[in-house]
Amino acid sequence: MNSAPIGIFDSGVGGLTVVRSVLDRLPHEQVLYVGDTANSPYGPKPRADVRAMALAVMDRLVDDGVKMLVIACNSASAVALPDARKRYETGRGIPVIEVIRPAVRRAVAASRSGRIGVIGTQVTVDSRVYEDALSATPGLHVTMQACPDFVPLVERGVTTGPDVLTAAHRYLDPVRAANVDTLVLGCTHYPLLAGAISYVMGEDVTLVSSATETANDVYRTLVERGLERDPAAGSPQHRFVATGAAEPFAALTRRFLGPEVTTIETA
Ligand code: DGL
Repeated sequence: MNSAPIGIFDSGVGGLTVVRSVLDRLPHEQVLYVGDTANSPYGPKPRADVRAMALAVMDRLVDDGVKMLVIACNSASAVALPDARKRYETGRGIPVIEVIRPAVRRAVAASRSGRIGVIGTQVTVDSRVYEDALSATPGLHVTMQACPDFVPLVERGVTTGPDVLTAAHRYLDPVRAANVDTLVLGCTHYPLLAGAISYVMGEDVTLVSSATETANDVYRTLVERGLERDPAAGSPQHRFVATGAAEPFAALTRRFLGPEVTTIETA
């Protein structure tokens, strides 16, 4: 048993989709969440910058005493995972969970035709990390698509309406034309746009959220390593920290996560 918080981060509010899934499975756990809103969005930035920003957030979470790190961001997972594993897992014994392999596993299991689409940020698409991971399974046909307007929409709280649908058609019509039967939401902001994404892709296409799959990895790792929080330790006190302005992060955190949100800080 270990009552320290789980450290979870993203460039903004997207990683809350992972937090939601983690708390659904592990309601006694305590979360320390950082939205790196001072540096958001990560997607259009050079990979070296995203790596440095992600490692700075993880250094801070480790200094705050977390028992596990969850990179709730595909962009940061795509460019910082080897460094993070070396620095925190090998160096400090703190397990590091990321979002890409869990989603790939689920997509491979879900696809019947072997035609898989992946949508993500520019830095994630350019990293080719999804093609690499999917290439372990022979015979797949992979269609990649960057969706740069999606994250700014979500960070403004716009998750439905004409702007979302217009962007969804622009990015997803070509993916649909590629005849995929499975679409990986390869950015943790995208499950918040799942209504529009599913509407455009059609009901015959299975959407794979990296958030739910990653939460299963968090559960598995905590249980295997005996790191679960003792329910007798009392109600969890979560902390949510924005590295930039308090709003709209605070309002969106309440909206996307719900009643678990108690303390919101800026730093
Ligand atoms: N939610 C993140 C991801 O999964 C970051 C998006 C961004 O900041 O561009 O890629």
